[in-house]
Amino acid sequence: MEPIIETERLILHEFTLADAQLLVDLNSNPEVVKYLHELPTTLEVAQQVLESVILPQYKLYNHGRWAVHLKSNHEFIGWCGLKYVKERNEVDLGYRFFQQHWGRGYATETAKASIGYGFNTLNMQHIMAMAHVDNIGSQKVILKCGMAFRKEDFVDNCPVKVYDLHKSNS
Ligand SMILES: CC(C)(COP(=O)(O)OP(=O)(O)OC[C@H]1O[C@@H](n2cnc3c(N)ncnc32)[C@H](O)[C@@H]1OP(=O)(O)O)[C@@H](O)C(=O)NCCC(=O)NCCS
Repeated sequence: MEPIIETERLILHEFTLADAQLLVDLNSNPEVVKYLHELPTTLEVAQQVLESVILPQYKLYNHGRWAVHLKSNHEFIGWCGLKYVKERNEVDLGYRFFQQHWGRGYATETAKASIGYGFNTLNMQHIMAMAHVDNIGSQKVILKCGMAFRKEDFVDNCPVKVYDLHKSNS
């Protein structure tokens, strides 16, 4: 599969339906879903999410959540990417990695590359991100990408911090 983005250590490409089990495995660790309003998922639900949410975004908007693989051995380590949220008419940055790969800068590396792709390749003007108020790791990633804190909010009954970045400030 053609990479969408290549960074120094990582390759980002589109998911396919065959990747459902990878998403099941990723969400199966309670630490990974601790700050998300998602639960560990079944293969059937992961297939539905791929079919109805993740894959259509690529066709409709030319972006979405991308699978992240190590360049060194092609291991799937998680996902990162941009998602158009219709209800808010906004593009949202997101990421999720297997716990054994945390703390190596992969989230920051892929998040920065995704933002750059959004602004420079897709000519987006504005990208936002949200993190649970207690999700310090994610907040650090967002700030390292140059995003600015805007407000605290409640989304799906979760207290979140909201950040954003305009292309003109990037
Ligand atoms: C949040 C997450 C993506 C961070 O991934 P990561 O690859 O470990 O992040 P990075 O290595 O790029 O770390 C960026 C910074 O955050 C810090 N950090 C990471 N996790 C942290 C934590 N739990 N507490 C405090 N700081 C943390 C890192 O030390 C680093 O800071 P530094 O550059 O000053 O050393 C990862 O923990 C994850 O997948 N969590 C589960 C899913 C999730 O919460 N996604 C975000 C939803 S909003």
